[in-house]
Amino acid sequence: ATVESVIVAIDGPAGTGKSSTSKAVAAALGLSYLDTGAQYRAITWWMITNGIDVADPVAIATAAAKPAILSGTDPIDPTITVDGVDAAGPIRTPEVSAKVSAVSAIPEVRTALTDLQRSIAASAVTGIVVEGRDIGTTVLPDADLKIFLTASPEARAARRSGELKGAGSDVLATKEALLKRDAADSGRKTSPLAKADDALEVDTTELTLQQVIERVVTLVEQKRAAR
Ligand code: DC
Repeated sequence: ATVESVIVAIDGPAGTGKSSTSKAVAAALGLSYLDTGAQYRAITWWMITNGIDVADPVAIATAAAKPAILSGTDPIDPTITVDGVDAAGPIRTPEVSAKVSAVSAIPEVRTALTDLQRSIAASAVTGIVVEGRDIGTTVLPDADLKIFLTASPEARAARRSGELKGAGSDVLATKEALLKRDAADSGRKTSPLAKADDALEVDTTELTLQQVIERVVTLVEQKRAAR
């Protein structure tokens, strides 16, 4: 890593604009980008397609290290493959969304992906924006800047159902599924969704995406200038 290299951790629940913000900040600053939620989704998709019962923690733990997850870290065109197969589409289905919390609660899954995430961050030459749930607390506790994004449940559900469009995307159902996933992610034993003590909280409820991006870019630039 060069002197200019900067590591940014962006955590928070679903629907706070984490992905859109993280990608745009990385692109604006010439940094790599890693979506760790996509990796948990990819493992979950692999478990489903390989007939592993996601209600069986032992089965999940045993298979945790089997799929080869590869993340492309260009913020303009982030990619994800599992055993060489493009998984970008299938990891966004409602079935994967409904099952991902159960899979990501298993310690063996978290160890496998945390190791992978640390090695990706360490090899990013100019630095990286890593988004997830436990980046500031567990994966990269020494990150140069930690952001914790929040928004009201209503705002989050409205944003998410706007993204999904089409069938089964009514705001109430989306809100219910989203709150259920947050409760599971926050309540699990192994590195739950949590704000790191030294993370800066940004409530995005009343902000446009552009405003959030500008705020985070400014924070990164201030960190760099202070060194
Ligand atoms: O960011 P996302 O909604 O695509 O993440 C999907 C799920 O993955 C989320 O509900 C919990 C899990 N996850 C996690 O446990 N730890 C992370 N660092 C990122 C995601």
